[in-house]
Amino acid sequence: MTADPPAGEDRRLTRHADVRAVLTDPRFLVPAAPAAQPGTGMAWLRGAVSRFSNGAEHTRRRARVMGLLDALDPVRLRREARERTGAELAGGARVDVMARIARRVPVGVLATRLGVPEDRREEVVAAVTAMAAAYHAPGAAPAGDAAVGVLAAALGQGEEPEPGLLAAVAGALIQACDATAGLVGNTLAVVARLPADLSAQWPVEALLAETLRWDPPVRLTRRVAAEDATAGGVPVPAGAVLVLDLAAANRDPEVFPDPHRFDPARFRQGHGGGGGHLGFGSGIRPCPGERTALALTAGVVEAALGHRLADPEIPYEPSPNLRVPARLHLECAETTGQIPAGLPSYTDVQALVTAGADSPLDQP
Ligand code: HEM
Repeated sequence: MTADPPAGEDRRLTRHADVRAVLTDPRFLVPAAPAAQPGTGMAWLRGAVSRFSNGAEHTRRRARVMGLLDALDPVRLRREARERTGAELAGGARVDVMARIARRVPVGVLATRLGVPEDRREEVVAAVTAMAAAYHAPGAAPAGDAAVGVLAAALGQGEEPEPGLLAAVAGALIQACDATAGLVGNTLAVVARLPADLSAQWPVEALLAETLRWDPPVRLTRRVAAEDATAGGVPVPAGAVLVLDLAAANRDPEVFPDPHRFDPARFRQGHGGGGGHLGFGSGIRPCPGERTALALTAGVVEAALGHRLADPEIPYEPSPNLRVPARLHLECAETTGQIPAGLPSYTDVQALVTAGADSPLDQP
């Protein structure tokens, strides 16, 4: 911990080593949702998923999600995401990736692989998007409540789905929805500014890994001390809440030299970077969807390579912990190897990055 925050505010950790230590320490728990409420709305769902539970219950629920995800073939996920994205971009017209692709393709592909019938794909994508918007905001969820019912009906195909299965599938789809959209958008926000021959120098995996470090869609998470503990060398009393700033830790110069520079070459050797980025969390409960998310996003991004930003101004959705573009328009690049007129060159992008002008850390 670098400084004491003002009294009454949650303490924020920003050093990579401190954040990782808390994520690995069993004395720190996730803020839990109340036990599953009767019914099948958002209050029930929040009380039934792995994300908001701890201890043995968490272990059991997490294993169920991982069982579902481990059974998926990442090659097939990637191919399907690439083909569906290619179909959306075909024709060369200007396309808003966030409206047409970033949620629809990954969530739609994943939902059908997890048992949603093909003819209910679009309905379920809309339901998952509504549930995701309500997931972290208990109490403000009438649209989310109805959406849980839509997913249950699609999964059960006329029968009530088994509650544990519904919670595992809903939890996975919700977690996948906004975060994967953010990774799609944040990757393309950089890559679609570059001449195609430059972005083609790096494997898609390296582009995604560096985006997860440099501009992570999930920017922070929280933990509560179950007992008196220490974090970042400072005592933390039982009950205190810690804000773990994943985005800041990903730019810790002790781990990532020249941290504000977007440089996929850091990850050429794989998931490296001297300790690893924290874009998927770490420790006791890292994201179980990493392999799935990377396969789906790689498919989308590789279909979009060769397209360029039609509008360099990218607005972002308002959110305290997610960084997801609200709009991102792509159009077909007519020429490759040339810097598109009106867009910054690679050098300009790096200058922007180095100056921190485009840094997510500058966001309130
Ligand atoms: C690029 C996309 C994604 C990113 C950046 C991301 C990031 C994260 C992070 C940082 C956490 C840990 C939160 C914490 O420690 O408090 C997490 C948890 C989780 N993620 Fe992901 N995620 C992504 C996609 C997915 C996908 C595709 C799935 C499922 C198919 C998924 C399922 C989950 C689940 C179930 C949890 C809760 C795990 C638990 O608490 O045990 N995520 N994710």
